[in-house]
Amino acid sequence: MADNPNTDRPNPARMYDYWLGGTHNTDIDRIAADKAVSVNPDIPLALRTNRHFLRRAVTFLTQQGIDQFLDIGSGIPTAENVHKVAHQHNPDAHIVYVDIDPVAVAYGQHILQEQTKAIAIEGDIVHFDEICSHSETRRLINFQRPVAILLVSMLHFVPNDAEVQRVISQIKDSMSAGSYLVISHATTDSATPQQHNEIRDIYSKTTMPIKGRPKSEIAALFDGLKLVEPGVVFAPLWQPHGKDDLWFDQPERSVLFVGVGRKV
Ligand SMILES: C[S@@+](CC[C@H](N)C(=O)[O-])C[C@H]1O[C@@H](n2cnc3c(N)ncnc32)[C@H](O)[C@@H]1O
Repeated sequence: MADNPNTDRPNPARMYDYWLGGTHNTDIDRIAADKAVSVNPDIPLALRTNRHFLRRAVTFLTQQGIDQFLDIGSGIPTAENVHKVAHQHNPDAHIVYVDIDPVAVAYGQHILQEQTKAIAIEGDIVHFDEICSHSETRRLINFQRPVAILLVSMLHFVPNDAEVQRVISQIKDSMSAGSYLVISHATTDSATPQQHNEIRDIYSKTTMPIKGRPKSEIAALFDGLKLVEPGVVFAPLWQPHGKDDLWFDQPERSVLFVGVGRKV
């Protein structure tokens, strides 16, 4: 597969790939990523706690009978992607990956070419209606039945609060009873204000500015839904499976609040 030609600015999807040990990144991404790590050395491990949360959440959802997943801001494919985890429990599960970054989508399409039940499409969460009306979404997701919508480590890339509110209510309206909303979101409640300012400054020079939010604002995204236990918590604390969970004893180092809400 051809690599991405659009390399004039660091791209957070590729920085994330670098931190997770992937190869779909360039010098400019690695320089920005290393700069961010010099501000907060916890970042790479924090993102692993995010991936662990994603795995646990998808496992939980399949155990609840969920067999359709809409993963928005899915990123560059990496180990334990949603379809891999979901298909371990239910080989018939349908998965639509959506990302704003054409490179992430191209890699997704590449690894999914043999798949009939999982697909990657390009889309912007801000245009959630277009994601829903996309022919591949319509082929694989039936919104009349329970669906899981995953917004994992991505809403902090939508800095406009009003835009986030609008999209979240559209998403909740689209879900039938028994559907789930999964969110992980960078928070300003841990790490120092200076670290947050410096990280924000680094991301402002990438293709996607970042905005961490306090726990109260992240928790409010679930208003109207029934939160699954243990509620909105730091990533390592959400239904931990045991010793494989990183930072169980220092959960705030994950810098991410997570939660799963059910529409009743
Ligand atoms: C940090 S990665 C998270 C990947 C994956 N969800 C995970 O948690 O491992 C964030 C992803 O969100 C994507 N993204 C950012 N803004 C977006 C938007 N407005 N609509 C869709 N995707 C977006 C980025 O391109 C990137 O791939």
